[in-house]
Formats: sequence, C-alpha cells, structure tokens
Amino acid sequence: MRYITFALAKGRLAKKTLEIFEKIGITCEEMKDPTSRKLIFVNEELGFKFFLAKANDVPTYVEYGAADIGIVGKDTILEEGRSLYEVYDLQMGKCRMCVCGPESAKELLQHHDLIRVATKYPNIAKDYFYNKKHQTVEIIKLNGSIELAPIVGLSEVIVDIVETGATLRENGLEVLEEICPLSARMVVNQVSMKMEHARINKLIDDLKNLYANKE
Ligand code: PRP
Repeated sequence: MRYITFALAKGRLAKKTLEIFEKIGITCEEMKDPTSRKLIFVNEELGFKFFLAKANDVPTYVEYGAADIGIVGKDTILEEGRSLYEVYDLQMGKCRMCVCGPESAKELLQHHDLIRVATKYPNIAKDYFYNKKHQTVEIIKLNGSIELAPIVGLSEVIVDIVETGATLRENGLEVLEEICPLSARMVVNQVSMKMEHARINKLIDDLKNLYANKE
C-alpha cells in the first residue's frame, strides 16, 4: 500500500486536526511527544505519513504532490493561490478576513481614496480592492502585528484576520468591511485525488459523518 502523506500547518491547527483525526480512528502516537524534534511521523498500520510545515508552505507541498493532503486555513489557501482541490471545511479556527482601521478611515473607503493598506496578505488585499471594490490602493506587506500600522501612521487601514476582535478593540481600531469568512480546510493534490480516490473519499466521508453526528 502506498503511503498517504498529510501536511499539517504547525501549531494550534495541527493539534486540533490530530484530535479530530483521532475521533475517526486516525492516530499518530509518535506525534504527541512534545519533546520530539522529528519532522515526519508514520502510522505503518494505516499507511499514513504526517509532517508539520509552516502554514504558508502547506499549499506548496500539496500542489507539487510532496503531500497528498493538507490541512490549512482558508486565508493561506487564498493568499497562496495554488492549484489544488479544496475538499472539506473542518469548521475549526473560524475567523474573518476584514478591512480594519480607526472609525475615521470609513470615509476614505467610501470615497475610494488612494489609501495605504498594510497586510500580511497582499494577494487577498489586492483582489479585494482591485477586483471587487475597484479602488486603487497602495499595498504594504508586513509580517505580523499588523494592527500597529494605522496606529503609527504607516497606513490608513489594514487587511487582517479578526477572531474575537480583542486586538482591534484594545488598540482603538474596528472592522470597517468584511472580506470573507475563514476556517481550516482540507486540500488535496489534484493527481492524488484521482489515484487515491477511494482512500481519500473514505476519509472525507468519515469526517462528514463525524460532523453530522455532532449536530
Ligand atoms: C492574528 C491577527 C490579529 C489577531 C486577531 O494575529 O493577525 O492580530 O490574531 O485575533 P483577535 O481578533 O482574537 O484579537 P496573530 O496572533 O496570529 O499574530 P501576528 O500579529 O503575528 O499575525
């Protein structure tokens, strides 16, 4: 039997994914050892391999077939724009991609002013402002703590993930426009979907049943 390889986005999401997989009989004891520095884990019995990667790299591994399946946030899928099948919404890590800023920036958005937009997601921001809103903006790529940008005068608004809204509130910012809802998704390599049709579909069905029983 050929191995099916999973690329999981390192961190909270991988931990939650493994908890869900356990419920449908997919276990990987090796992976639970917090002291381990190993990068790849195998369940010989099931013929599954798992590895942890930086979230942004998960779609790349899946597109090239180095992983058959990836579990990653919709934000990363949209930003990376890779060729892959998005097959299942795991309904976890729910949050929203939004345009945020001080209340005073509302007007700038309404009037389609030439503003600066700071973000970790330049492709999502470009698509939203250029293709959906038809507003010309200057996009500034940052790597984290995006909320700082409008506070220190780098940009008028930001495009970022909002989960509880606490970071915005505590920094005097608010959601000005919502771009799209986000959650963790299962993505599949296009060739693997054909070659390993039966095993991958069984996995999707097991997840669907698990979620149906939860409701
Ligand atoms: C994310 C996001 C926001 C925050 C939103 O940042 O970029 O800053 O979480 O969460 P909240 O609405 O619950 O406050 P993350 O913690 O991933 O770190 P980052 O600033 O490095 O992007």
